[in-house]
Amino acid sequence: MHKYKTAIVGCGGIARAHMQGYELLENIDVVAVVDPIEEARTNYMEDYDIPEGYSTVKEMLVKSQPEIVSVCVWHLLHDTVTEEVAKGKSVKGIICEKPMAIGVAKADRMIKACEENGVKLAVSHQRRFTPGWERAREIILDGAIGIPLRADLRVKEGLANWGTHSIDGARFVLNDPKPKWVMGAVERKTDKYERNTAIEDSCMGLIHFENDLQFFIQSDLLDNNCDAGKFFIRGTEGMIHITETVVKLFNGNTNGWEQVDIHLEDGDQAIGGKTNASQTEELIRWIEGGPEHRGSGYKARETVELMMAIYESARQNEVVSIPMQEKEYPLEKMVTEGKLPVTIPGRYDIRGFLDRSNIDEKRYKQLKDDGLPHHIIMRTLHEEQKTD
Ligand SMILES: NC(=O)c1ccc[n+]([C@@H]2O[C@H](COP(=O)([O-])OP(=O)(O)OC[C@H]3O[C@@H](n4cnc5c(N)ncnc54)[C@H](O)[C@@H]3O)[C@@H](O)[C@H]2O)c1
Repeated sequence: MHKYKTAIVGCGGIARAHMQGYELLENIDVVAVVDPIEEARTNYMEDYDIPEGYSTVKEMLVKSQPEIVSVCVWHLLHDTVTEEVAKGKSVKGIICEKPMAIGVAKADRMIKACEENGVKLAVSHQRRFTPGWERAREIILDGAIGIPLRADLRVKEGLANWGTHSIDGARFVLNDPKPKWVMGAVERKTDKYERNTAIEDSCMGLIHFENDLQFFIQSDLLDNNCDAGKFFIRGTEGMIHITETVVKLFNGNTNGWEQVDIHLEDGDQAIGGKTNASQTEELIRWIEGGPEHRGSGYKARETVELMMAIYESARQNEVVSIPMQEKEYPLEKMVTEGKLPVTIPGRYDIRGFLDRSNIDEKRYKQLKDDGLPHHIIMRTLHEEQKTD
């Protein structure tokens, strides 16, 4: 059995989920990490017993010669880091975090760099591997709801942040239908960011696919009943309610709403690490000549385009046809063009608490010794800083 030398770029929260997946696989050997923040790097190396740590991708690629690399940095770095990693001589596969990129041009550059260097690119829409979504896809393809007509998606905390999972997920369970056009509306009265990316206060979009299928997505319009892993789909002969672990069906053969049997091996708890392991296994099969990964860069690029088209429709006040012409980030363009004036000044970042560049590392260590997980420590430090 070949063991793939693997490296992780960015030692924050989601990198820990990648590691939980890698730990389940015998053919993965995590040899190195990269993070410019020394404490982030050393904590992570200690926690998972990883031998090599570097402050730059360049040094890691030369010294560690990884074959698989996880890109776990913030969105605005996904394109440049992926492009740099793809050029590493030893690299065969990359798992880049979601959202793939902020703007279609960046996604295209990532795909090009990987194609030019013979690297397989997967994007971590890892929920494509959850048992609920897999089973729902199976029975929808089997005709359980007739011809699918409308998917209803409700998310919060940013379209690119949560909406990417929902749009991508609904595409997955509906067998990646071909999009035709998008109409969107966007509000941004506050100077809102998410992991350093300018985002909207709220937005909604109607996405029209071939065969009259439509997705309606609302983002940050509701606080309750929002979930990136959950959607409701209506078809000509039935309705289906889908979460990552529960699927409920209503059609002419059911007695009202009925729960569908799905294959749950270890219950809900196992999903985090297992989905990351599954997406890695599928990447390895793709590297070794198997079929395209279900969460490939090609698939994720379409999700990026649909999200960008929602913004572009609001920017142009018109229906946007797919493929769309605009390749940069339409929301940022709207901000620059003065189309979204901020009426409540003051920049804020809804994931700013994750920024480790200016925290009290001694206090971090105390909280870690108390047994708190990384993201809770970061939230706690943020709250403590506010009250100081
Ligand atoms: N798939 C999912 O369900 C899921 C869940 C959470 C986060 N994410 C995604 O993962 C990405 C990272 O989010 P996070 O919450 O882990 O952030 P985080 O802030 O916890 O971690 C990011 C890490 O990257 C490091 N870093 C910054 N610049 C770097 C560089 N040039 N090279 C190497 N490391 C660098 C930071 O020091 C930090 O330790 C985001 O794009 C986010 O959307 C995905």
